[in-house]
Amino acid sequence: MTSNPDSSVPNITHRPRRLRRTPALRRMVKETNLSVNDLIYPLFVMEGEGKKVEITSMPGCYRYTPDLLLEEIAAVAELGINAIALFPVISESKKDDTGSESYNPEGLVQQTVQAIKQAVPQIVVITDVALDPFTTHGHDGLIDENGTILNDPTVEVLVKMALSQAESGADMVAPSDMMDGRIGAIRKALDAEGYINVGILAYSAKYASAYYGPFRDALDSAPKFGDKKTYQMDAGNAREAIKETFLDIAEGADIVMVKPALAYLDIIHQIRSETNLPVAAYNVSGEYAMIKAAAQQGWIDEKQVMLETLLSIKRAGADLILTYFAKEVAMILG
Ligand code: PBG
Repeated sequence: MTSNPDSSVPNITHRPRRLRRTPALRRMVKETNLSVNDLIYPLFVMEGEGKKVEITSMPGCYRYTPDLLLEEIAAVAELGINAIALFPVISESKKDDTGSESYNPEGLVQQTVQAIKQAVPQIVVITDVALDPFTTHGHDGLIDENGTILNDPTVEVLVKMALSQAESGADMVAPSDMMDGRIGAIRKALDAEGYINVGILAYSAKYASAYYGPFRDALDSAPKFGDKKTYQMDAGNAREAIKETFLDIAEGADIVMVKPALAYLDIIHQIRSETNLPVAAYNVSGEYAMIKAAAQQGWIDEKQVMLETLLSIKRAGADLILTYFAKEVAMILG
């Protein structure tokens, strides 16, 4: 490849294709690489024993009883995944208007976190702080008689919830509720109780998105009335995402997050350039379901589309990706 096979001297000076000629050259100049270190695996836990039930709209994802969840987490840790994000499926009988089960010290999340930290202590356990799995109405906050979501009373409950999760051994708490001021209130309470090393992964720019549909199926947590637009963000807003992120940083967030990921790659990119904190992105249930559904039809190459999708999230600026593909990707990356 040292001489030009054409006899004439070409008049092209710059030939970007030179660096794409072989796999080795391409690997050398690859700007973004996906690593198992980027992955956070969201997992669903339900009460009971010896059961694992597939979520219809999320093929390959299951609700696990704690015993089987522990086995899954051990396997996932073996694959090199550093962190899991835990979401509970709460039985209807334990739900109420105020989500009080969320801070039960003997609750499903609390007991499961304790068991995980005993069985697989090295894995980073991230717990969700939001009321929707625990409320009869399915909203992330307390409501008044008109159905208005109340901010400050909700924050008080979120604080109790975060504290009880920290007490059970969570490494990080992840408020996904979008109430105002919750990061500061949670940070203050954690510090006051001595949990100075429990981190906060803040869902800073969380949009009111139709891409959460399959997740709500998984948890039976769809709102019973209205929508989440008075607390989650409007899809049209980018500057507001920066505002929300700066507030969370000022209030003490350790990691900020954009959610969903794919329809919001521009937001990930902007937030990356505005902060030096680690930026996470949530490749949400609807994004996962679309790839799975098309692959099941034989319309796309699942593995390649999955890898390309996650790479795009990383290239946009995410350091960490919450994804239901985490286990599959970890197996591929070896
Ligand atoms: C609720 C919560 C949701 C998700 C994570 N935490 C749904 C919602 O806000 O209604 C969605 C995750 C996904 O779709 O994968 N606090």
